[in-house]
Amino acid sequence: MSSGKRILLIIGGGIAAYKCLELIRRLKERGHQVRVVMTKAAQQFVTPLSVGALTNERVFTDLFDLDEEREIGHIRLARDTDLVVVAPATADLMARMAGGHADDLATAVLLATDKSILVAPAMNPHMWLHPATRRNVVQLQLDGVRILGPATGEMAERDESGPGRLIEVPDLVVAIEKALAPEGLKRRSLAGRHVIVTSGPTHEPIDPVRYIANRSSGKQGHELAAAAARLGARVTLISGPVSLPDPKGVHVVHVTTAAEMLDAVKAALPADIAIFAAAVADWRVAHPTTDKIKKSAATTVPTLTLAENPDILRTIAQSPDARPRLVIGFAAETQDVIAHAKAKLKAKGADWIVANDVSPKTGIMGGDHNKVHLVTSSGVESWPEMNKAEVAARIIERAALHLSVKRTAAE
Ligand code: CTP
Repeated sequence: MSSGKRILLIIGGGIAAYKCLELIRRLKERGHQVRVVMTKAAQQFVTPLSVGALTNERVFTDLFDLDEEREIGHIRLARDTDLVVVAPATADLMARMAGGHADDLATAVLLATDKSILVAPAMNPHMWLHPATRRNVVQLQLDGVRILGPATGEMAERDESGPGRLIEVPDLVVAIEKALAPEGLKRRSLAGRHVIVTSGPTHEPIDPVRYIANRSSGKQGHELAAAAARLGARVTLISGPVSLPDPKGVHVVHVTTAAEMLDAVKAALPADIAIFAAAVADWRVAHPTTDKIKKSAATTVPTLTLAENPDILRTIAQSPDARPRLVIGFAAETQDVIAHAKAKLKAKGADWIVANDVSPKTGIMGGDHNKVHLVTSSGVESWPEMNKAEVAARIIERAALHLSVKRTAAE
């Protein structure tokens, strides 16, 4: 437990505001000092009195309250802290942050602070998915703000469900403490963990010179391996044939076929996390020839008989003894991306599926950018388009968080 940190919590107006009482209680239990700013709308959901009773401090509500200005001032409020947390962040508050507004105490503090800002949004799914909110989220991320969630599930409104729930309070506490940890500790948050990543295509031989392949470049898988190594993990990258350099600090096993890839994964186990980013060929040629098939010797066009390759992800996810604690698959789709990804999550037994649209028009396969949906048993999160390194960093951070939350729960 890290103690003695100062957290400035900005409570926005939303049904989820009441969860901040639990958040404050937990942060205090863990030794942190919590100072609270409430927006006008937040005060419709919880009273400054009940918040103040938990923090043992006065709650700040008004930019133009002269007493407050004399006592502390919004600039000091913004600076005398180790971290700023906005929870729940409404669509409106995020829009005003993204626009650089400063017309109330909350936005003035957010504009004046020189500390890291974590934002935990909570709103109706339609509002979260609206292009205006999507734009604001991207803008805030570009400004260095970290967005936590939202989670997917039932809304307070009847018959509404989707992305928009405030992430669970224990997850918020973990994210806050991670953000407060010294840089060295943060970087090593996968220290002591073993991460296996598969990457690239596989080549299935037809004869000694020809093979069946696909357009996978291996960029996303290699970025994942590099990101895991940066967080301090021991990483085994099992790569099909690619034209990328081996990432730094990663143990790379080069393979050609799906069968070799499966053997290499089995040999690398046990692992804490396994990420199957490779575009494994579903079929191989049943009987590749040892000599080159000669056109001049053929009387008819040769026919290739295919045999099914082992499903590496399914084999490992469903292995009774050696299953890593977190198994992540990818779903490369050209239509009905989310529906297919949900089906794959179940059929393969993965914990998460990272789904992307690889139709040629997206330029994702072989390109530098990716737009993914994270599909888990608790819902679907659609992430904005990012470059593959950013997608990798986010997946790995989430994986590290997931393992640490699990560990906390087991303690
Ligand atoms: N995968 C695997 N072994 C295979 C095929 C796929 O490990 N023989 C893994 C991929 O690495 C990916 C996930 O399974 O993590 C889904 O791959 P994808 O090609 O999208 O799906 P398929 O299982 O091939 O299904 P389909 O061809 O019907 O889309």
